[in-house]
Amino acid sequence: MVRLIGYKKIRTAVFISGRGSNLLNLIKFSKCKKSPISINLVISNKKALGLRYAEKYEINRKIVNFRNNKIAEKKILILLEKNNIDLICLAGFMKILSKKFLRKFNKKIINIHPSYLPKYKGLNTSLRALKNKEKFSGCTVHFVSSKLDSGKIILQKKVKINKNETEHTLDKKIIKEEHKLYPAAIKKILANP
Ligand code: GRF
Repeated sequence: MVRLIGYKKIRTAVFISGRGSNLLNLIKFSKCKKSPISINLVISNKKALGLRYAEKYEINRKIVNFRNNKIAEKKILILLEKNNIDLICLAGFMKILSKKFLRKFNKKIINIHPSYLPKYKGLNTSLRALKNKEKFSGCTVHFVSSKLDSGKIILQKKVKINKNETEHTLDKKIIKEEHKLYPAAIKKILANP
């Protein structure tokens, strides 16, 4: 008799607010045989376009209204518990999670950001980098702390800014790198837990 020795995948939730290209990328990554994660929950603070990927791949999904942050976070904590989530990947999630939330979900929370941190925290990263005539930008995956885009860096990748670069072309180059970086960062943090 052949005995299959399986290993448990880390149950992961992805939080989004937008188009969800990183979500789709992580779903595809999770389907690889050797991937250390499964995606079991998608949370959005609004009717985001990316939710269609959760629907397509039949992943539990929930829109949580953030009119009241405290109530929203309480609801999310219940969902995380119900779905036995051990890792949260923020992927274009436009809400800031409170210190209390980070304390209560005392497992790993990571985020992807479209700049070479610590440069250009916040929004419009490519535009600001271009205006400042930077030679490169990039992307970063980091642990989430209570300060915006400031937690410990897991992995980052530089992206060269060319002479005739526009915000659009730079964004395109960065998102392509993000799709390689996020799975690599997940593998890195789960290799030696
Ligand atoms: C990405 O650039 C990510 O770094 C940032 O928000 C964007 C989300 O893009 N946090 P998508 O929704 O995953 O396509």
